[in-house]
Amino acid sequence: MARIGIYGATGYTGFELIKLLVRHPGVAIAFATARSAAGKRLSDVFPTLIDQPLVSVEQADLSSVDLIFTCLPHGAPELVPLIQAALEAGVRVIDFSDTFRLRDPDDYARRRGHPHPAPELLGAAVYGLPELYRAQIREARLVANTGCYPLTAILPLWPLVRAGLIADQTVIVDSKSGVSGAGRSLALKTHFGEAHETFSAYNVGRTHRHLGEMEQETGLHIIFAPHLLPVFRGILSTIYVTLQPGTSLAEVRAAYDVFAAEPFVKLLPAGQLPELRHVQQTMSCVLGLQPVEPEAGRYIIVAAVDNLLKGASGQAVQSMNLMLGFAETTGLV
Ligand SMILES: NC(=O)c1ccc[n+]([C@@H]2O[C@H](COP(=O)([O-])OP(=O)(O)OC[C@H]3O[C@@H](n4cnc5c(N)ncnc54)[C@H](OP(=O)(O)O)[C@@H]3O)[C@@H](O)[C@H]2O)c1
Repeated sequence: MARIGIYGATGYTGFELIKLLVRHPGVAIAFATARSAAGKRLSDVFPTLIDQPLVSVEQADLSSVDLIFTCLPHGAPELVPLIQAALEAGVRVIDFSDTFRLRDPDDYARRRGHPHPAPELLGAAVYGLPELYRAQIREARLVANTGCYPLTAILPLWPLVRAGLIADQTVIVDSKSGVSGAGRSLALKTHFGEAHETFSAYNVGRTHRHLGEMEQETGLHIIFAPHLLPVFRGILSTIYVTLQPGTSLAEVRAAYDVFAAEPFVKLLPAGQLPELRHVQQTMSCVLGLQPVEPEAGRYIIVAAVDNLLKGASGQAVQSMNLMLGFAETTGLV
C-alpha cells in the first residue's frame, strides 16, 4: 500500500479526495491535516462513516508518507515551505493550488504582480492534465493539478489547436460555476443569501487568475467571463471559436478523435449538448459541439465537469494512479 498524506482535509476538495481514497485499493491515508479543526476527527467536521484523526500542518510527519496532496488555498503561508520540505524528503507532491501551474516565472510575475515564491521548483512541476501530459505525470515529483475552470477550456480547445483548425486566435470562454468552486471558507459572495436565486458575473475579461494556464496550454488569447451559479457543484463553459472558413462539422468532430481512448472525456453525438446535472458526482468531462455559421468557421463548444471531481480531487487521483503505477481509473469508476 502506498502511504498518503492530505493537507487541508476539511476543505471541499480535501474531503472529496478522502472519499475517493478510502475506497482506493492501493493506498492508505497516513495523516490528514486541518487548521481550525486540528486535534478533532474528520467525523466531527463531516459526520459520516469516514473517519480520520486531524492533525496540524506542523504535526504531520512527512517521513510516514510516499505522496502528499496539498489541498490548501493558493496564498496559505505554509504551502510552499511544506512542498519544498516534502520534495527534499523524497515525497512526491500533487498540489491543488495554482502556485506551480505556470511554467514561466516571468509570466507568473507579470500576471500576479509579484515574483514566484519558489522559481527553482518550476522546472520540476508537471501540469496535471493527464490527457495532455500522461507520460510526464508518471515520472513527476511535483504535479500542479489543473484548475477547474481551465479544464473546461483546455480540453475543448486543445484538439482544435492541435489540428490547426483555429482561424481567430482570440477565443471567448464563458463559464458558469457552482459555489463550491470558491471553497468552504466563509465569503459574502458565496453565502446562501447572496448566491441563491441570482446569477452574477465576476472577474470578467482578462483579470481572472485562471486565465494564464488556459493561455499557456492552448497558446490562444482568451477572453474569459466566469459566472457564479446558484448550485453547489459543477462548471459549464460555453466557448465561441472561429475556425478556418468552411471547416465541416465532420472535420471538427474528427479533431476530437484524439480523445477516443480517454476514460473520462466524451464528445457527445451531433445535436446533443452537455448539462450540469449529468456530470455532477462523476469524473466525466462531457463536450458538445454546435455549428453556428460553419461557412464562416463559427462553432460553439460546450463543456461540463464536476469541479470537485474531474475539476479537482478526481483528477488528482487520476494523476496519483499514473505516478504510483496503478491503472489510471483505479478508484474512479
Ligand atoms: N473548490 C474547487 O472546486 C477547486 C477546484 C480546483 C482547485 N481548487 C484548489 O484547491 C485548493 C483547496 O480548495 P478548496 O475549495 O478545497 O478550499 P477550502 O474548502 O477553503 O479548504 C481549504 C482547506 O485548507 C485549510 N487551510 C486553509 N488555510 C490554511 C492555512 N493557512 N494553513 C493550513 N491549512 C489551511 C482549511 O482549513 P480550515 O477549514 O480550518 O480553514 C481547509 O481544510 C485551493 O488551492 C483551490 O484553488 C479548488
